[in-house]
Amino acid sequence: MSQLKTFIIMLLLITPTGAASAKEDEERIAFNNHCRMCHSIRPNDNRLGPTMYGIFGAQAGRVAGYGGYSGGLSGLVWDELTLDRFIADPASVSSSTNMIFPPVKDAEERKKIIRFIRSLAK
Ligand code: HEC
Repeated sequence: MSQLKTFIIMLLLITPTGAASAKEDEERIAFNNHCRMCHSIRPNDNRLGPTMYGIFGAQAGRVAGYGGYSGGLSGLVWDELTLDRFIADPASVSSSTNMIFPPVKDAEERKKIIRFIRSLAK
């Protein structure tokens, strides 16, 4: 019985909370699975990669305070198309980007991630 209790508490701890709809949760989970290890969603919180807060619609390579840019992204604007191409195959967007990660092969998964990023309005 106490083992079951521990299990339930653990489950509550790892389950995303809040009143978000199942769809929003799916989008957040997709982002968490593929991107969160390097990208925060909070303003001014740059990690290995720059924060994704406000990145949708923004010029590439301009997040204030982030010092890790390769310089290979300049000239791009992050919209559905450029984001989709970038996370499907970063090298197809820039041969010199230093975002080295396992590309997201599944188009549906990419859509979820992009919808999530889009929701992080500035
Ligand atoms: C292993 C770490 C890592 C992972 C995982 C990762 N990124 Fe990145 N990301 C980076 C780095 C480093 C850069 C800077 C790239 C450059 O300057 O060439 C970057 C840059 C970006 C940029 C451009 C930001 C800007 O200011 O122009 C976007 C957009 C982006 N990543 C989205 C994503 C998304 C979406 C995912 C998940 C599908 C993801 N990244 C996964 C490390 C990562």
